[in-house]
Amino acid sequence: MDLYSIVKHLHSGFRYIVFILVVIAIIQSLLGLLGKKTYTNVNRKINLFALISAHTQLLIGLVLYFLSPLVKFTSETMKQADTRYWTVEHVAMMIFAIILITVGYSKSKKAILPEAKHRAIVVFYLLAIVVMVAAIVQSHRPLLG
Ligand code: HEM
Repeated sequence: MDLYSIVKHLHSGFRYIVFILVVIAIIQSLLGLLGKKTYTNVNRKINLFALISAHTQLLIGLVLYFLSPLVKFTSETMKQADTRYWTVEHVAMMIFAIILITVGYSKSKKAILPEAKHRAIVVFYLLAIVVMVAAIVQSHRPLLG
């Protein structure tokens, strides 16, 4: 296996870690919000791990960006759907999703009231997962598997 396929497999598999942590973060925050619960250290850690996983995926993606044959900068890039997707659209949508997660975590951290802490995670992490799923659906590669 060459470096490209190793990094590609890593990036491909790492999506599940990001998805699972973001989904767990959303569920626990939703339960916290609806159940008017306090914001515990466990809540904070799960939200933080989801943030770290997204940032790690960003770094792996960045390395992959320089290895992938589908990332090209020629006059044909924007005319072909696959090179346009992998050179421009995937990165743009995924970075947007990661920014949403970062903003959500930071708003949750700054909020004083527990419900505001939970709400920031629910809103921003949910938006982020919608963007990530939409980006993968658009890639015509399987969402899972
Ligand atoms: C949370 C964010 C991200 C998720 C969930 C994600 C997910 C994925 C998935 C599922 C694939 C397809 C893998 C396959 O078919 O085997 C992929 C490929 C790829 N991603 Fe990401 N990605 C993310 C962020 C990024 C970022 C930020 C970049 C660039 C800076 C990036 C660059 C790439 C590249 C270059 C490919 C490979 C195209 C190829 O050669 O087949 N990704 N990503």
